[in-house]
Amino acid sequence: MRLLAAAAFAGLSVAAEQQQASHCCEALRNAGLGERILEPDHESFSARLDNYFSQSAKLSPHCFLQPQNAQEVSQAVTALVEANKTTPCEFAVRSGGHMHFAGAAGTDKGVTIDLHQMSSVVHHPSNDTVSVMPGAVWGDVYKALDKLGVMVVGGRSYTVGVGGLVIGGGNSYYAARKGLVCDNVAQFEVVLADGSIVTANQNGHSDLFQALKGGSTNFGIVTRFDLMSFEEGNVFGGLVLYPETTHEEQFDALLNFGDKIQEDPFGSAIVISVYMSAMKVPLFMNAYDYTEPVDRPAVFQEFFAIQGNISDTTGIRNMTSLAEELEQPKSHRIQFSTLTFKNDIRVLKKAHELFKQTIASLEEKAKFDFKVLALYQPVPTLFAEHGKANGGNVLGLDRFDETLIMYESYFAWEDSKEDELFESHAQKLRDDISEYAASVGADNPFIYLDYADISQRPLESYGSKNVAKIRAAAAKYDPEGVFQHMMPGGFKISQVDPRMGVVPDKPRHDEL
Ligand SMILES: Cc1cc2nc3c(=O)[nH]c(=O)nc-3n(C[C@H](O)[C@H](O)[C@H](O)COP(=O)(O)OP(=O)(O)OC[C@H]3O[C@@H](n4cnc5c(N)ncnc54)[C@H](O)[C@@H]3O)c2cc1C
Ligand SMILES: *[C@@H]1O[C@H](CO)[C@@H](O)[C@H](O)[C@H]1NC(C)=O
Ligand SMILES: *[C@@H]1O[C@H](CO)[C@@H](O)[C@H](O)[C@H]1NC(C)=O
Ligand SMILES: *[C@@H]1O[C@H](CO)[C@@H](O)[C@H](O)[C@H]1NC(C)=O
Ligand SMILES: *[C@@H]1O[C@H](CO)[C@@H](O)[C@H](O)[C@H]1NC(C)=O
Repeated sequence: MRLLAAAAFAGLSVAAEQQQASHCCEALRNAGLGERILEPDHESFSARLDNYFSQSAKLSPHCFLQPQNAQEVSQAVTALVEANKTTPCEFAVRSGGHMHFAGAAGTDKGVTIDLHQMSSVVHHPSNDTVSVMPGAVWGDVYKALDKLGVMVVGGRSYTVGVGGLVIGGGNSYYAARKGLVCDNVAQFEVVLADGSIVTANQNGHSDLFQALKGGSTNFGIVTRFDLMSFEEGNVFGGLVLYPETTHEEQFDALLNFGDKIQEDPFGSAIVISVYMSAMKVPLFMNAYDYTEPVDRPAVFQEFFAIQGNISDTTGIRNMTSLAEELEQPKSHRIQFSTLTFKNDIRVLKKAHELFKQTIASLEEKAKFDFKVLALYQPVPTLFAEHGKANGGNVLGLDRFDETLIMYESYFAWEDSKEDELFESHAQKLRDDISEYAASVGADNPFIYLDYADISQRPLESYGSKNVAKIRAAAAKYDPEGVFQHMMPGGFKISQVDPRMGVVPDKPRHDEL
């Protein structure tokens, strides 16, 4: 890489793209960040690539930059913006690397700013917050906090990153009790496009504070999350495996659980359909969690009445061990996507029937092993109520006055030759469920960003008012569009129909 850069500067003919990339990495070196640069010939380079959750998300940058603090992130942004004035510099930002599609948190055209060395977790008992750097994974957070008898509202799998999850919303075992993960942020420290390092909270830069709660990667690079914390010991939780033949009871129990969460917001249940081609046996693998050390709490009564489970790991446990149990292997090509619909038994049952049809079709057509999951998570109105009480977010869930189901389909396969096969099945499954839900009047426009596929449009799904807020904050804090065009990864407000959110007096159907 260094040789190529030298060649480029000597005016020798090298591919324009290489020249551009060398120019951007060189600019970082000239800014004094040489020691933080990882080039392809470095022994750790491939390990950082392999650390993307999905094999299909790996894009090999011309160099990784691994900053250690906000100051270095600021220097990097300034240097890249300056260098872009002569030759274009593209960059990507990566925290845990769990967004599944290529280009979300990586680039093969420039620099990937890899935040994984910024991963400290510090509890401040004086104001009940925990400062977490974006490159931490949730397992790091829980390992540190379990020891202190302190907890925060966070993600559920060990290696999922803090950075991406929080700014997309963040569903959690605590959501009914305390709101989504983003609603439990006391303040964000953010590096803006002009290199300044600002703190956004309820009192300062409150528009940025709100926009970062769901508006994702449109405003700057978050370098610290101050999360509200509370005292907490062990909790009840675990996974229960059932044969698929229990499906009627599963969805009846889920329906009732979803409609009654406000009676006991300590509980969380996720119904998960699972199919692994290597086993050929469809299963349910439900996650039950209760954020108090109460054994077999009554809130799960109807689920616990389902007979014939194959295994049951529930018990009084700590958050670290629950996060370890939900860990998924990083060795596959992955696609997940999402839908939201009303908590309606017809849609739940239809979605499961369509899931089985999808599997039957894949069994016929796929040559290699695969895995398909469908996750059903209730979203009661309580989630949005907590959000509002904590200063508001831009997700727009407060538009809805009934319990919803957040649906996620998840496909894992082995060979890039089968990308098209799995992606088309994923798309068809989603379209068919969506169409059915609409046909019975049980549809809902919300698309959860953290589960969305690149073909989906989560920002639009927040409604016009929230689109307008995101657009205003992006324009104010990044007037040159650094995080729109130099950093194209993720879901961008500049890609949203410019007419949306501009004419507030005419309600559109997407505002409902
Ligand atoms: C196994 C698994 C379990 C999951 N469990 C949950 C769960 O319990 N709850 C839930 O809500 N979601 C969950 N998710 C979804 C998860 O929230 C998203 O995949 C999320 O994007 C992961 O964050 P990350 O930091 O790992 O992602 P990354 O891929 O690193 O980042 C995601 C996006 O955010 C941007 N970004 C990352 N860090 C920053 C930053 N510091 N500043 C600005 N932009 C940034 C990136 O550029 C990218 O566009 C899960 C996903 C998987 C694969
Ligand atoms: C959490 O639980 C695991 C598994 O039981 C145990 O090994 C670990 O020590 C516990 N951590 C803390 C901090 O108690
Ligand atoms: C909490 O206290 C820490 C340490 O004094 C401080 O850095 C942080 O800004 C405070 N957080 C909030 C939200 O005030
Ligand atoms: C699972 O089955 C075992 C054995 O029948 C039973 O003891 C246990 O209570 C069941 N667990 C749940 C969560 O239903
Ligand atoms: C970066 O360079 C491109 C190509 O020259 C240009 O279109 C864009 O406006 C520049 N971006 C910024 C933020 O300067």
